[in-house]
Amino acid sequence: DIARTPASPDGNPEMADAPVQTPAPPAEIFRKDYKPFAWRMPNTFLDFQLGLDETLVTATLEVERNPVAEVSRTIRLNGDGLELVSLHCDGADCEGHTMDGDDLVISLSGDSHTLTIVTRLAPSANSQLMGLYASNGMLCTQCEAEGFRRITFFPDRPDVLSTYTVRMSGPKALFPILLSNGNRTDSGEEGENHWAEWHDPWPKPSYLFALVAGDLVARVDSFTTMSGRKVDLAVWVRDEDLPRTEHAMESLKRAMTWDEETFGREYDLDCFNIVAVSDFNMGAMENKGLNVFNTKYVLADPETATDGDYDGIEGVIGHEYFHNWSGNRITCRDWFQLSLKEGFTVLRDQLFSQDMGSAPVKRIEDVRVLRSVQFPEDSGPLAHPIRPDSFREISNFYTATVYNKGAEVIRMMRTMAGPERFRKGTDLYFERHDGEAATCEDFVSAIEDGAGLDLKQFRLWYSQAGTPRIKLDSERSGDKLELTFRQEVPPTPGQDTKQPMVIPLKTALFDRGGGEPAKESLVVLDSAETKVTIEDAPENAVLSLNRGFSAPVRIERDIAREDLAFLAMHDDDPFARYEAMQDLVVGHLVEAAGGTQGDNSRTEAEDAIVQALGAILTDDRLDDLMRGELMLLPSVTYLMEQLLIADPALIHAEREALKAKLGASLGDSFKALHERAAAVPFAMDAAAKGARKVKSLALAYCAAADPVRASQMADEQYDRADNMTDRQGALMALCGIDSPERTARLLDFYERYKGNPLVIDKWFAIQASSLHPQVVEHVKALADHPDFTLKNPNRVRSLYMAFAGNPHGFHAASGEGYRMIADLILALDPLNAQTAARFVPSLGRWRRIEPKRAGMMQAELQRIADAPKLSRDTYEQVTRSLG
Ligand code: PHE
Ligand code: ZN
Repeated sequence: DIARTPASPDGNPEMADAPVQTPAPPAEIFRKDYKPFAWRMPNTFLDFQLGLDETLVTATLEVERNPVAEVSRTIRLNGDGLELVSLHCDGADCEGHTMDGDDLVISLSGDSHTLTIVTRLAPSANSQLMGLYASNGMLCTQCEAEGFRRITFFPDRPDVLSTYTVRMSGPKALFPILLSNGNRTDSGEEGENHWAEWHDPWPKPSYLFALVAGDLVARVDSFTTMSGRKVDLAVWVRDEDLPRTEHAMESLKRAMTWDEETFGREYDLDCFNIVAVSDFNMGAMENKGLNVFNTKYVLADPETATDGDYDGIEGVIGHEYFHNWSGNRITCRDWFQLSLKEGFTVLRDQLFSQDMGSAPVKRIEDVRVLRSVQFPEDSGPLAHPIRPDSFREISNFYTATVYNKGAEVIRMMRTMAGPERFRKGTDLYFERHDGEAATCEDFVSAIEDGAGLDLKQFRLWYSQAGTPRIKLDSERSGDKLELTFRQEVPPTPGQDTKQPMVIPLKTALFDRGGGEPAKESLVVLDSAETKVTIEDAPENAVLSLNRGFSAPVRIERDIAREDLAFLAMHDDDPFARYEAMQDLVVGHLVEAAGGTQGDNSRTEAEDAIVQALGAILTDDRLDDLMRGELMLLPSVTYLMEQLLIADPALIHAEREALKAKLGASLGDSFKALHERAAAVPFAMDAAAKGARKVKSLALAYCAAADPVRASQMADEQYDRADNMTDRQGALMALCGIDSPERTARLLDFYERYKGNPLVIDKWFAIQASSLHPQVVEHVKALADHPDFTLKNPNRVRSLYMAFAGNPHGFHAASGEGYRMIADLILALDPLNAQTAARFVPSLGRWRRIEPKRAGMMQAELQRIADAPKLSRDTYEQVTRSLG
């Protein structure tokens, strides 16, 4: 037996007491180095003696040689800061073992052995929220990607699948509910303690292991699968939250039905448990049969959750549920394949939400996220392919590229094949690889074979980073319209030259002179230059391009303002309509902020926008949800992306000026719209949701033009609100206006909701994202508020993510915004490295910002890099960002 005490609960014990000034940089891991593991782990038995301050874990691991791997005489079991209490091999002392860093390496002479390992954990000291941790008096786990090694020594890699049996015991008073993966097979009592045994019949990788113990209550229901099996469903929460679980449960049942109907996927256990925890690094986690959720994606009622929150819950519940097939039954061979499960599952949740609500609006929202988060990633220092080639810390690769661009790539396959053939492809994928740890290549091959597509060149989407740029030139000769598409993929870190990609563009030609309605066709670009000839093109032809955002690319073309205005008003593809409206605004703002616009063209551009938006406000063929999309101005981030070097202050000022101009020119229409929408009674249907959406947007335009009048409107909306959407919309408008109402309403909001952390998160976020001139001071003061804590990721994000996304605060000319984010990263890094590292990309944009600010951003990054000790997470992001 050996014992070892870690230097600190969350530190790397090797480094903590070593007097080294510059620790060696964390190793880079390469996709090309993949090798199968030398051992198999057929059965894993885990015994937990639970306590908040101390938990003892006894792991009994069956190991046997992997016949398809290279022979090895040792087994490497990963560990991370673990305290080893005892180690036995086949019931006796081990022949030999060493520590290699945090890993345990054991000599094994035979072909199969049983290892028994006891580790001691300190859940309440675990602030990283990886492994076993305490949250609000309960115990829960998070193992993806490499958290299981914080529980016991194990080959913590996704291609090692094992069948888990879990026994846990602990004080019944503290932990009346004991949950793990699979089905509960036994339980009992021993004095003050009780215990439960769970068995998961489906072999799984360690990252899908989960355990929860706590004082929880459940909303229960059941679902009968397509083959007639009854599944017990439960959503576990703290007692006071039970009334807010209905929407989550209804979403779950809809997701189960939808996956059967749309992908032919049936659930495969007798029960499905969802647990809500308030301390969680991400949105939720798909552990087999025991999904663990951030409370944000479970709890909702109209009084405390917005329409956006409701949609988010439905989407994330769907997402985690869909992982049961795309992620769990078929998992990833290694973490470079992360997009195999995430890209596909995001596509599945997007299609689910499209089917549950307004498909066009959902599509527009998804594209907006892609362009405001993923496009900047793809054009910055952290750009990587959806299947990365190397990493130092895998947590840094849970990105918009792997998730959202990954989904777009699979969506393109679906567009090219059509939904029926695509379904044949996914059927083949599920059939071929069920029970395996697969690769992106396996997925593409299955779609190729099942759907009958040739995806040879298309595979470049998996290896090349960067957003393709397409230039379109059109030339008319007689009745013919000749289109020339030129594509270019910009260089990204480590990838200087690129090959042409396969780019499917949905197009349609409109006749501005009336005439035939447009017919849609799919143009697939596959070389640097592609020519397309359209015969019999009408005189006033207007081309609608990349309809439905059929490819995640940027399009550059000269298009007349009249043509954009025409498409904004008449295109029958809702996305294309939205896009035309965005282009109209982007064109103007980029010119205005770039200083290349004369006074005349400014007036002309503004007039065109006023006219187009005016038509949108009163177009009665539009439903309000869609009208709301058309009313949105492009975000500052998206606008900044359009410029090689951007001045955020200028862009922000121009955007606000346009908002004010629109608010003034269309003031009566906005007020009328606000009034009409305010008369719609509360309901959860599309019409009422749409009314709430346009109501707060109208208010925001009014606030930009006439703050005094808008303050009264907002005040009234706040007072009359019988739901959070209206109340938050009113408070957001008020919060940007320097007025006594502002202070009063913020106080009222706080007093009203002070017992509800998710709503207090909103209170922090609304202030941090406000347009108020003193926002920097406000955020500083909020950081000292008694309700602020660095220990809860939701709270940290609500204050600082909101602030980092607020151009007016973050990019303050003084550089204070940058300093605050850098200070936050340094303070948070030792506590919660994963969350800290997620703030680095905002500073990493410096190369694309005007020189004065760029210098300050770079200096802050350097200050972080110079810190004596950084987590692997932050180290990697900071060095890549400076790089
Ligand atoms: N796999 C989770 C999801 O996409 C995300 C996650 C990653 C959660 C890592 C926790 C930790 O649904
Ligand atoms: Zn996921």
